[in-house]
Amino acid sequence: MFNQRSHRRIFRPLLATMLASGAVFFAAVQSSSAQTAVKAQDPMAAHVQACAACHGAQGEGTQNDYFPRLAGKPAGYLYNQLVNFREGHRKYPPMNYLTTYMGDDFLHQIADYYAGLHPAYPAPGKTQASSDVLARGQDLVLHGDAANGVPACAACHGAALSGMQPAIPGLVGLHSDYISAQLGAWRSGNRQGMAPDCMHTVATHLTDADVNAVASWLSAQTAPQNATPLAAGSQKLPLACGSEPQ
Ligand code: HEC
Ligand code: HEC
Repeated sequence: MFNQRSHRRIFRPLLATMLASGAVFFAAVQSSSAQTAVKAQDPMAAHVQACAACHGAQGEGTQNDYFPRLAGKPAGYLYNQLVNFREGHRKYPPMNYLTTYMGDDFLHQIADYYAGLHPAYPAPGKTQASSDVLARGQDLVLHGDAANGVPACAACHGAALSGMQPAIPGLVGLHSDYISAQLGAWRSGNRQGMAPDCMHTVATHLTDADVNAVASWLSAQTAPQNATPLAAGSQKLPLACGSEPQ
């Protein structure tokens, strides 16, 4: 539900951007061997020019509600997402299209590039949510709801919500619409992680009101400016996730 609503609102204006950026991107790919030959200082910066239109020059995300931050997320997480788009386990036409012909090695390079960037986080958005809704969101994120089978989001995403290596993303610096659309996509099956898909389990135990509450609270938090993912294995996960070493 969340996903479809977002798609209708967002996809049409994006089509033009997508076509324009796609053209730039493929031009960048075609000229990549030439760039390697001249030993450009940072060939990845040229490769990812097409991505900047939506994700920002440093992967910081853009003002648009729906374009997520990439910078500083664990490389394993970013790589898994690029593969998910290429294989159709996540559905967003511009991303599916851009990744279609990209090989695994190149996707690793892109993931490493964005994982290594640390632009400042923007100020959080203003929320319209009531204090009750925000309190519910905060409670779910920090403590979960055991009666309804929801572990604390922080148990996996970290107490500072900055993620954990190798493949759990931070939840700071994302917009409310993006967060609720992702949780909606997990519920509907439009987004699938590696089995066991722990986020499918988490999302299907949340009510619509819970999704709104966590998205509202998370998107209103000020990110710590030095947010870096926790070291791998630094907390024991309450549910198994296919992307994490057991
Ligand atoms: C037309 C806008 C657009 C362009 C161009 C674009 N992206 Fe995206 N990207 C998005 C949107 C929107 C999403 C979230 C889609 C969803 O899952 O609903 C996304 C998601 C992602 C994600 C997953 C982020 C996360 O936190 O899960 C990665 C990684 C990514 N893009 C990388 C790239 C790279 C690399 C490029 C350039 C090759 C690129 N994108 C070009 C719009 C774009
Ligand atoms: C058992 C561990 C675990 C718990 C608990 C958990 N998550 Fe996650 N979360 C993950 C993993 C692993 C991923 C990456 C999934 C993938 O690669 O498909 C993820 C990804 C996400 C994403 C995608 C971020 C992006 O940039 O696209 C969102 C949003 C999210 N989680 C929100 C939540 C919320 C909200 C809660 C609490 C209600 C929560 N998670 C609880 C493990 C967890």
